[in-house]
Amino acid sequence: MKPIDELIAQGVTGRAILVRSDLNVPLDGSRITDDGRIRASVPTIRALSEAGARVFVAAHLGRPKNGPDPALSLAPVAARLGELLGADVRLVELGGPAPKLADGEVALLENIRFDPRETSKDESERAALAAELAALVGPDGAFVSDGFGVVHRKQASVYDVARLLPAYAGGLVHDEVEVLRRLTQDPARPYVVVLGGSKVSDKLAVIEALLPGVDALLVGGGMCFTFLAAQGHSVGGSLLQVEQIDACRRLLETGKIVLPTDVVVADAFAADANTRTVPVDGIPDGWSGLDIGPASVAGFAEVLADARTVFWNGPMGVFEMAPFAEGTRGVAQAVLDCTANNGALTVVGGGDSAAAVRALGLPEDGFTHISTGGGASLEYLEGKQLPGLAILEH
Ligand code: 3PG
Ligand code: MG
Repeated sequence: MKPIDELIAQGVTGRAILVRSDLNVPLDGSRITDDGRIRASVPTIRALSEAGARVFVAAHLGRPKNGPDPALSLAPVAARLGELLGADVRLVELGGPAPKLADGEVALLENIRFDPRETSKDESERAALAAELAALVGPDGAFVSDGFGVVHRKQASVYDVARLLPAYAGGLVHDEVEVLRRLTQDPARPYVVVLGGSKVSDKLAVIEALLPGVDALLVGGGMCFTFLAAQGHSVGGSLLQVEQIDACRRLLETGKIVLPTDVVVADAFAADANTRTVPVDGIPDGWSGLDIGPASVAGFAEVLADARTVFWNGPMGVFEMAPFAEGTRGVAQAVLDCTANNGALTVVGGGDSAAAVRALGLPEDGFTHISTGGGASLEYLEGKQLPGLAILEH
């Protein structure tokens, strides 16, 4: 992959540069609830702007189904990006006349997925949109791929456009790939992976790919109940994927998977539900496990205390509700301690776990790296080829 420094060294003053960023942030109405991905995108955009480039940023928000959807406008994101850059960021409608930017000016294209060609399975449709994006920056333009969170998607602004313009890897993509490479190539041992999140079916592929190389794999979150069921426990009303029980049983035979020993159960999915902490063999009928319990946190922390390499993806419970946040907080603290005490390489895989770190007020710089890519980092660790990276290598 050609680094962005190479592009900047050529001189970008007065040139229009297309940057693909991942600005897909969680929103509550038009309020951004976690701006981590916007902040992570700033250094590349700023570097180009300071070097005098006219910067067009392409990004998506959510998964609009039928063209433009005002609820998924990037307007709030343009405002936040402008605040962080300390300069106005103009929001540019798709398909309209290309605005002329001043040197150093930054414009954000409206949600690129409002154009159905962005995500089309039809290569010629995607190519047509990619050609429009390339035309926007003109013959002396270039493409900088910096949206790590979306490089696992074969989409027009991620993949196809990189075939039409000189393409470079932005600083964020470079750093993310560098850290994930360290996880896959000869990690310092013990190497411990912590996985959470709701569905075991989403994580089976990564579990299978990781198990041979890790020393221990700690499982919490909603997905732990299918593993507990595979051990013969009754899980009450907890999340359960019956069709995955056999797969979980096979994975448990490796002896590397560590499960919770106690859980916090509730009689409703609500912050004001009645709750109890029970051993995993004592989950009452009608109650649902919404977090791992304190004994589980202590057990996980004991495994993490020796680790030299840690990858953590997925919350341990429904951390958005205070009564079910302590499992995630406790495990995050154990990972932080591991960074501080062992000098371990600790990586938080994006999405919900990254949001949890910030929502729980934990120090972001206490981890080696917080990825901006949820699906992308998991697919990288699965050993899959990521289209948005592969195309930069040509
Ligand atoms: C994400 O949030 O996972 C990325 O921005 C990619 O979005 P997608 O899963 O909708 O493709
Ligand atoms: Mg996703």
